[in-house]
Amino acid sequence: MSRWDLAMSPHVTGGAGARQAVGALTAARTGPGAAVLLVADPGLAATPLIGEVTASLAAAGLGVTVFSDFTGDPTAAQVDAAADMARRTGARAVVALGGGSALDLGKAVGAIAGDTAPAVAYQLCERDFPAATLARICIPTTSGTGSEATRTAIVTRADKAKVWLWGDAIKAHEIILDPETTLSLPAHLTAQTGIDALVHALEAATNGNANAANNLYAHEAIRLASRNLEAAVADGSDLAARDGLQRSAWLAGIAIDNGGTAVAHTIGHALASLRPLHHGRSVALGMIATLAWNLADDDGRFDAAARAMGLAGARDLPEAFERLTRSVGIKVSLADEFAGVTPDALAAQMARPENAAMRLSNRRRIEDGDLLVFAERVLTQA
Ligand SMILES: [Fe+2]
Repeated sequence: MSRWDLAMSPHVTGGAGARQAVGALTAARTGPGAAVLLVADPGLAATPLIGEVTASLAAAGLGVTVFSDFTGDPTAAQVDAAADMARRTGARAVVALGGGSALDLGKAVGAIAGDTAPAVAYQLCERDFPAATLARICIPTTSGTGSEATRTAIVTRADKAKVWLWGDAIKAHEIILDPETTLSLPAHLTAQTGIDALVHALEAATNGNANAANNLYAHEAIRLASRNLEAAVADGSDLAARDGLQRSAWLAGIAIDNGGTAVAHTIGHALASLRPLHHGRSVALGMIATLAWNLADDDGRFDAAARAMGLAGARDLPEAFERLTRSVGIKVSLADEFAGVTPDALAAQMARPENAAMRLSNRRRIEDGDLLVFAERVLTQA
């Protein structure tokens, strides 16, 4: 039996309206009268959310500065600008409100603002984080990345390379899961972020690191995503479905924080490095291209994951996953976006060192020749 360990979720406050607790939860960590940096997704500017969170923080006696000057896939320079703002205002806490990009940026700022070194100094564990970090509170407004539960933040360097910062200093202290914060997410983003959560859970439950303890999270995340994704996409105002999907993404975040992902993320990252493609769609296509191949060497992990999805067994999994992907409107064919990209070029991206960890996590060993087969499949499946 192989060794395993299990990191737990940060403290969670959940349920409709839970965002109103942000002021009290933050003040309990900073003490009264502290300065707080609110990292708010610029996409939320048209919603009342930023005002509501600011009001809750102010009502708890906290001074709020808002930082929204960042993009999807935040750059290291944007992290540094936010960290400078945190230093200038003497912030004791970072509240991150938004999708995975806002959460990653906020978590990184909370880890590095206690010293003056730039974000890239901490990439790939090259340097220890400062001893003094800021309190980190995450309020996800999409249900996908699970960043609220992980010790990872991804930032894009000036040379466009995506690098990770990792450690306990990145992990949130408090998570607020309020399904009402996800109600304004459009259907196509609900679909693409939600399928990412399902892929996280499926990969954590079936890769080489999977274990019974982590499966408590992974299997429940599979159950919640597979039962709520279609309903949340069909009717964005379905609060029960939004709630189920939000908890799925959080639990899947815990699962990948402990167990990592697998080959669908190798393919997904390789695709996205060649053409602009939503992360959720790219990993779903990677999953469709490889599920049957992985099943050929199943030791029971895929069977258990399939049952969590409500299926009779692993044999039904490839068809069920593809059917769900298509039913929420995710286009499987890449013919339009990837015209001119050869399987060799895609396989070469999959083989790059930044994708090695995901490839190695896959339980069935992946040879270089397999990568070419996957590349041909993902580029031609229609
Ligand atoms: Fe993902």
